[in-house]
Amino acid sequence: MSKSVIIVGGGPGGYVSAIRASQLGAKVTLIEKGTTLGGTCLNVGCVPSKALLMFSHYMDLLHHEFPKVGIDAAFKQLDFGAMQKEKSRIVQNLTQGIAYLVKKNKIRHVQGEAKFVGKKKLEANGEIFEADYIILATGSQPISLPFFPIDEKRVLSSTGALALKEVPKHLLIIGAGVIGLEMGSVYRSLGAKVTFVEFFSRVCPSFDPDVSETMMGIMKGREIDFRLNTKVMEGESSQEGVKLHCEGVEGRFTLEGDYVLQSIGRRPATAGLDPQKGGITLDSKGYIETGPNLETSVQGVFAIGDVAVGPMLAHKASHEGVALVESLFGHATSYNIYEVPNVIYTHPEVAHVGLTEEDLKRQNLPFKTGKFPFKANARGLVEGDEKGFVKVLVCAETKRLMGATVLCSHASEMLPMFQLALLKKMTINEIKHLMIAHPTLSEALVEAILNADGESIHF
Ligand code: FAD
Ligand code: NAI
Repeated sequence: MSKSVIIVGGGPGGYVSAIRASQLGAKVTLIEKGTTLGGTCLNVGCVPSKALLMFSHYMDLLHHEFPKVGIDAAFKQLDFGAMQKEKSRIVQNLTQGIAYLVKKNKIRHVQGEAKFVGKKKLEANGEIFEADYIILATGSQPISLPFFPIDEKRVLSSTGALALKEVPKHLLIIGAGVIGLEMGSVYRSLGAKVTFVEFFSRVCPSFDPDVSETMMGIMKGREIDFRLNTKVMEGESSQEGVKLHCEGVEGRFTLEGDYVLQSIGRRPATAGLDPQKGGITLDSKGYIETGPNLETSVQGVFAIGDVAVGPMLAHKASHEGVALVESLFGHATSYNIYEVPNVIYTHPEVAHVGLTEEDLKRQNLPFKTGKFPFKANARGLVEGDEKGFVKVLVCAETKRLMGATVLCSHASEMLPMFQLALLKKMTINEIKHLMIAHPTLSEALVEAILNADGESIHF
C-alpha cells in the first residue's frame, strides 16, 4: 500500500515536495492556510519583487540610458496602478499554474490552518489529519522593531512595500540587506527619494565586502542616502508620514519620510502551528530543530525551507523538499543542498555561491583570489557594467574553486558554471581553458579564474 504524506504550507518548499512525493507514488495532502498556493515566494516575495525590479528599471533606461545613445523618448507620466496590475497578473498566472499542477498530480489540497493537536496529529477546518510522514514547510514572516510595529499603512514590511498604491516621495528603509536594496532600488527608479538606516558598517553584510563597497558606490551614484552604523531609537507614524529618531556616528538625528520599510530580517513562522503540542522542539531563534536528515524531534515529522535552519531562499526550500521526499521513498537523490546560490536582483545583480573570504579565514584555509573587472570586458561596456566584477576564491594548495561572486547585469544567470565547478570539485586548471563565446559577459568568469594564477589576458 502507498505511504501517506501530509505537507503543511504551500510555498516552494511545500508544493514542490507534494508534487515530487506524488510522482513517487505517495498519497499526498497539502494543507495551506492562504487563499492561493505558492507561499511567500509567489505571492509576496520573489515573483512580485522581481516584476517591480524589472518594470522600474525601464524608467532608468528611459531617463539615463536612452539619452546616452541619442534616443529622445520624452517621459509623459507613470501609471503606477497599471504597473501594479501587471505585477499582479504575473503572480496570478503563476499561482493558478501551481493549483493546476497540484490537481494534475492528484494531491489533496486543503485550504485551512493546520495545527498540532497531538504527536503526529494535525487538525485543520475541524478535521483530524494523520499520515506516515508529516513535512512542515510553514515558511517565515518579517521581523518588526518591537517599539515600532509594522501596520502596512505607513510602517511597511516587504508585503506592504510591494502593494503600495503610490510611489513614496521619501521612502525610509531600516536595514540595507537584500529586501532593502531591492525595494529601495525599485522606488528610487520610480522617482522616490530613498534613505537607508543600517545598523552594520556596510550594506548587504552577508555578501563579500567588495560587493558592499561597489553596491554602495552604485547606489550613491543614484542619489540614494545611507546612514550606516546607525540605530533607530524610536519611530513615530501619523496619517501623513513617519519619523525615525536615530543615533549614529554623527550623533542623534531625526529622519522624516512618507513611508518606512522595515527590512531587518525574517523569522521562522510557527505561531498558528502549535508545534510544541506535537512534541516538536524549536531552537533559541524559533526555527524547528532538525537533524541532518531534516527530521524533527519527533520521528516521521520533518521540516524544510525557511522554517528550518539555513538560508531563507526559495530554491533552498524546494531542493530540501525534493531531497527529503526522494530519501523517504527510497529514491537515490542527486540533489545537493549545500552550495546554495544567493542573488540580489538589483541592476546590476549580485550573485554568490560557495565560501566567502571570511569563511576561508575562519577555517584557516590558505586561498588566493582571482578578480576581473567588467570595464575590461567588451560586452560589459556595451551593457553598462563598468563597475561590475567577477571574484573567485581558490584553495592555494589544491587549486580547487572554493567560492565565486559576480556583480553585473544578469549575474544570476552566469552562476551555474561556478556551481557545477563547485559540485564537481573542479580545480581552476580544469576550467581555465574553457572556450567561451565572444563577446559575452561570461568571458569574465574565465578571465577571473586565469587571474587567480596571474594569467588573465585582458587585465
Ligand atoms: P513560504 O514560501 O513562506 O510558504 C509557507 C506557506 O505556509 C505559506 O503559504 C503560509 O501561508 C503557509 N502556512 C504557514 N503556517 C501554516 C499553517 N499552520 N497551516 C497551513 N499553512 C500554513 N528567495 C529567493 O530564492 N529568491 C528571491 O528572489 C526572493 N525574493 C524574496 C523577496 C521578498 C520580498 C521576500 C519576503 C522573500 C524573498 N525570497 C526570495 C525568500 C523566499 O520567498 C522564501 O525563502 C521562500 O518562499 C520560502 O519557502 P517556504 O516554502 O519555506 O515558505
Ligand atoms: P537581511 O538579513 O538580508 O538584511 C537585514 C539587514 O538589516 C542587515 O543588513 C542588518 O544588518 C540590518 N539590520 C538588522 N537589524 C537592524 C536594525 N535594528 N536597524 C538597522 N538595521 C538593521 O534581511 P531582509 O533584507 O529583511 O531579507 C530577509 C530574507 O529574505 C533574506 O535573508 C533572504 O533570505 C530573503 N530574501 C531573498 C531575496 C533574494 O534572494 N533576492 C530577496 C528578498 C528577500
